[in-house]
Amino acid sequence: MNIFDATQTHYNAAGVHPTTDPDNPRSQFAVNRYENHLPKLIRPGMRTLDLGCNAGRFTFAMEDMGAIAIGIDCAEIPLLHAKKVAHRRKSQCQFNIGDIAALPYKENSFDLAFLPQNNGYLSYQILESLTVQLKEILSDNGIFVVIMHDELVKRAGEESLSERYDVQTGLMEGNRTIPNKGVYASPWYFWTIAFARYIIEKHLLLEKVEQIEENRFLLVFRNKKRNGVQ
Ligand SMILES: C[S@@+](CC[C@H](N)C(=O)[O-])C[C@H]1O[C@@H](n2cnc3c(N)ncnc32)[C@H](O)[C@@H]1O
Repeated sequence: MNIFDATQTHYNAAGVHPTTDPDNPRSQFAVNRYENHLPKLIRPGMRTLDLGCNAGRFTFAMEDMGAIAIGIDCAEIPLLHAKKVAHRRKSQCQFNIGDIAALPYKENSFDLAFLPQNNGYLSYQILESLTVQLKEILSDNGIFVVIMHDELVKRAGEESLSERYDVQTGLMEGNRTIPNKGVYASPWYFWTIAFARYIIEKHLLLEKVEQIEENRFLLVFRNKKRNGVQ
């Protein structure tokens, strides 16, 4: 299975829902979860990148916090909606179509890159390739902010896991039913906090790991271009 194609198909079919539409107050629960965290990381004028932005609720939220915000996603349908919302709000947010595995940005384009709960769509190799790209794309002292849960904590004791878990890649097969549209493949990689740290720390300095909820963690890594971090 091509994970990128499956994810793109799934999110285009899902389209925009009241719980993901930045124009609908019902979507704000996701942003509100980090109301004590995200504003502390964003300073006015910071250039931020929302990785896997969908319809842009975090991109707009970062702009509201003072950032110059760009969102990137591989699914056209939610992106189109994000652009319409931006136009209507007279927002300066920009939305780009693209693949996190091959970001279309130049060196020193951003001060903060944000990956909110989207790591599961990335294979172990692609998270490492993203980190290597961020080393260039982020400014010196720029930060990479990851929000994720720990799959081991979530799935300990889940008996059916072994039937859909591929030991070679860490991929878990899964499906999601989209009402009135059908069943879509929704594959997801088995990530633990320790493993994500291990991969990202090869290239960026770990600054902190903060537990936000029982199984939701905020990881902050800093880009140090001149101190010999590999
Ligand atoms: C769970 S949604 C989260 C969306 C958004 N962060 C939010 O909270 O509304 C995950 C998003 O990541 C996007 N995505 C997954 N893999 C991607 C990739 N390789 N490149 C770009 N976007 C990707 C999907 O299209 C989807 O819109």
